[in-house]
Amino acid sequence: MSEVISVANQKGGVGKTTTAVNLAASLAEEGKRVLLIDVDPQSNATTNLGFSRNDYEFNIYHVLIGSKRIEEVILKTAVKRLHLAPSNIGLVGIEKEFYGNRKQNRETILRKAIADIREKYDFIIIDSPPALGPITINALSASDSVIIPIQCEFFALEGLAQLLNTVSLLRKTINPNLKIKGFLPTMYTSQNNLSKQVLADLEHHFRDKLFTHDKNDFIVVPRNVKVAESPSFGQPVIHYASGSKGSKAYKALAEAILRS
Ligand SMILES: Nc1ncnc2c1ncn2[C@@H]1O[C@H](COP(=O)(O)OP(=O)(O)O)[C@@H](O)[C@H]1O
Ligand SMILES: [Mg+2]
Repeated sequence: MSEVISVANQKGGVGKTTTAVNLAASLAEEGKRVLLIDVDPQSNATTNLGFSRNDYEFNIYHVLIGSKRIEEVILKTAVKRLHLAPSNIGLVGIEKEFYGNRKQNRETILRKAIADIREKYDFIIIDSPPALGPITINALSASDSVIIPIQCEFFALEGLAQLLNTVSLLRKTINPNLKIKGFLPTMYTSQNNLSKQVLADLEHHFRDKLFTHDKNDFIVVPRNVKVAESPSFGQPVIHYASGSKGSKAYKALAEAILRS
């Protein structure tokens, strides 16, 4: 039975897609069978893995409206053992559909869609959009746990209470087993006091929810130019620049998850 992990934070630009893509690729590199599901209409995870709009006809939108089964939209990627359920800008229209016809059970459409394919994968990673709307609710409802990337910048923790409330609300209703897998500090700059402060705040509030290396120090994703460059080459950073600091951080994250 696979483990389903969402990467979520309603803020944009905090490192969700980078984390989803590189965690998925790192787990695949560790020998695991992995499916990455892109449910962000911006389709950045899909593009990050080297696909453009013309490479596929159907996408997760068709799955969510019920016109395709998820097996019918899944693509093999250039990364061995990593499959992708791609997204497309057409997904923007889904909110209307969710709120329109299918009022009942609209939060669990994705969960039902993946039920039949769960045993084919060791991990299913879901990259969610920068909002707490119906798409993210579907992602969280379908998940065993959630990773929350926190950008080490000013206002890093702003909005976090809202996200944590949503998680606890889902726990009381449709997904009692939903766990917080952990907080992942991203774009960390060691020379920057603000970065240190954000990490200290996270440590103060959520010490046991920070990922750790073997030796127990916290895993942080450094701000790293190779990470920023890799999407334009259609590759995860762990392949584009496997020796880079960004790559090492994501490999450490995968190892921490495999240890847990
Ligand atoms: N560790 C990092 N170092 C440098 N740039 C990063 C890093 N993580 C993400 N980025 C860049 O920051 C931008 C936002 O990251 P992204 O993962 O797309 O965030 P989100 O999915 O939360 O919107 C992207 O251009 C990405 O390449
Ligand atoms: Mg994104």
